[in-house]
Amino acid sequence: MKRLKIIGIVLAAGQGKRMKSKLYKVLHPVCGKPMVGHVVSALESLQTARTVVVVGHGAEAVQAYLGEKAEYALQEQQLGTGHAVLQAKPLVGEEEGLTLVVCGDTPLISAETLEGMIKLHQERGAAATILTADIDQPKGYGRIIRDKDGFVTKIVEEKDCTPEERLVKEINTGTYCFDNRKLFAALAQVKNDNAQNEYYITDVIGILNAQGERIDGYVLDDASESIGVNDRIALSEAEQSMRARINRRHMLNGVSIIDPAATYIEADVTIGSDTVLYPGTVLRGGTAVGEAAVIGPQADIVDSKIGSGVTVKYSVLQDAVVGDGSSVGPFAYLRPGADLGQNVKIGDFVEIKNAKLGDDTKVSHLSYIGDAEIGKNVNFGCGAITVNYDGFNKQLTEVEDDAFVGSNVNLIAPVKVGKGAYVVAGSTITQNVEPGDLAIARERQTNKSGYADKLRAKFAAKKAASKKQS
Ligand code: UD1
Ligand code: CA
Repeated sequence: MKRLKIIGIVLAAGQGKRMKSKLYKVLHPVCGKPMVGHVVSALESLQTARTVVVVGHGAEAVQAYLGEKAEYALQEQQLGTGHAVLQAKPLVGEEEGLTLVVCGDTPLISAETLEGMIKLHQERGAAATILTADIDQPKGYGRIIRDKDGFVTKIVEEKDCTPEERLVKEINTGTYCFDNRKLFAALAQVKNDNAQNEYYITDVIGILNAQGERIDGYVLDDASESIGVNDRIALSEAEQSMRARINRRHMLNGVSIIDPAATYIEADVTIGSDTVLYPGTVLRGGTAVGEAAVIGPQADIVDSKIGSGVTVKYSVLQDAVVGDGSSVGPFAYLRPGADLGQNVKIGDFVEIKNAKLGDDTKVSHLSYIGDAEIGKNVNFGCGAITVNYDGFNKQLTEVEDDAFVGSNVNLIAPVKVGKGAYVVAGSTITQNVEPGDLAIARERQTNKSGYADKLRAKFAAKKAASKKQS
């Protein structure tokens, strides 16, 4: 059967009072991505012809977040979900096709589920198909009322339920498929004579039923998709379900997750196959991990690009690039602009910021490298640091290929160490070192023969004298 043109309408104008938040409800993140972003992504994968997001509270913030992904209809006053859909009429009221209405606070509804609902809707030739779920705790949701033949006759909001209706465990997820023309014709008849004095989209169902139209319910296989986030408790439940779903997706793609309950992967992260994630791994934002990497235990990685065959353990990375075969940690901190080539080694208690390190370079222990360009195959000894900041300006340090920077060296920027140069341990370098040169910048040592014992005797006598006095 040829699929009809799909128009998506996302309801996102509510304030979400029950969230008790300054952030507008649909912008609250679930696995790092605002709820409305999840909904719009699902519509995107259905290749909707039009996607209209109804905005009101926080309209500017919602529009700024979604940008070009949608068209917008403004609902100035929040008079209910039916009124919200009506605001899309000037944009899409004349379209021929199938309209999907989805609430911006139901982030778990998947593209596969929407596909299944659309298929049923078209096969049955229904005027409306409602996505429903059978749940044990239906409190707060609209109830699906069916006739003796199983057809849906209406949806009743909990506040408007009779005691018998309240016992129904099949709920309205707030997602619907409509014939577009029939939807807007019926919406014109919706009234607000209910407990909340709102115009309910759910009343369209009763109106279409009274007109003799066919209405179907498409029951969710996985009821956890139905969650509508109205408060922080539901938000945490949504987070948990989404996290499990994301982890499952990666595992099916060939990623090993040692303990999914202790692994946190945000929605847009990508991971190559044969990568292993140990407990305490947190992958956030636009992080991309290559193949056969080993991440964790304990790694917090944000907006970073991690190559193949990389290991990262007990470390924090933000806006960093780690080339193939490199290793990071334990206990390393890669800050924005850290850019490592291939087979680079970053060891314990090393911090890298805004610095490029060439292939095969090693910074194995206790170093700070900031605002620097380090070549290939450079060795930074234990405790060697760049001194990049004088309290006013940040200055650049350059170290060319094959150079050796000894332990506890201070490279005071701006300064440059040439190719193959050798900087002796403990040096404080303020002048450029030419390629192939050796630099030593430290006080020459003097040894005083037998003086340690003399010194001890002197101190002991001093202590005894002061004791006598007191
Ligand atoms: C709604 C349904 C209920 C369903 C539940 C599923 C109605 C009347 N009720 O109830 O049957 O079980 O969702 O989660 O539709 N919104 C607007 N403008 C408004 C009002 C709401 O854009 O004037 C938006 C909200 O931002 C939200 C969505 O519509 O994203 C749903 O509104 P909400 O108030 O959360 O409805 P529920 O009471 O949860
Ligand atoms: Ca809701």
